[in-house]
Amino acid sequence: MHSIVIFASGKGSNANAIIQYFKRSGQAKVALIVSNKADAAVLDIARNEHIPFLIVDKQSIKETLLIDQLTECKPSLIVLAGFLWKIPDSLLHTFPGKIINIHPALLPLHGGKGMYGHHVHNAVLTGKEKESGITVHYVNEKYDDGNIILQARCTVQPNDTSDTLAGRIHALEHYYYPRTIEFLLTQ
Ligand code: GRF
Repeated sequence: MHSIVIFASGKGSNANAIIQYFKRSGQAKVALIVSNKADAAVLDIARNEHIPFLIVDKQSIKETLLIDQLTECKPSLIVLAGFLWKIPDSLLHTFPGKIINIHPALLPLHGGKGMYGHHVHNAVLTGKEKESGITVHYVNEKYDDGNIILQARCTVQPNDTSDTLAGRIHALEHYYYPRTIEFLLTQ
């Protein structure tokens, strides 16, 4: 069975979609959740699902102890799902081609430092764009910059608010992120 590690620091709705999807398929298990926020809601999901978790800070995320803990999980993929920090070179070098991220827009549009959540959706609405969507991509040393694996689109409605657009984007994420992971695991 494949092992997946999730890095997440927010609500964890994507983490939950991934956990539930692979509980059903039996093809992979989420072995560890890594967060930089001790009070993140995603950790309640970890507790309910009996998934071990680790809290990292700016220092410990670079240390060999974390690399050792991750290596012990033998992850087929490290999946970022609402993790806002840059991934240090030490992790990129230890897990080449194995770290992926999801971004709530059609990269290269609306990516980069500080572009997350409502900042992204407000930029789409301010730009009067007709569509938005999601991007799953490999992680490299820059924000939201690695090779794109999958994009899925949705229409922006004339009366959309940042919240309604976020809801449509989340629905796309919850459907496509687990399935993209499944696709990568079977390559
Ligand atoms: C998602 O919209 C994802 O695109 C972005 O962070 C958000 C995380 O949401 N990278 P959640 O915590 O999974 O609900």
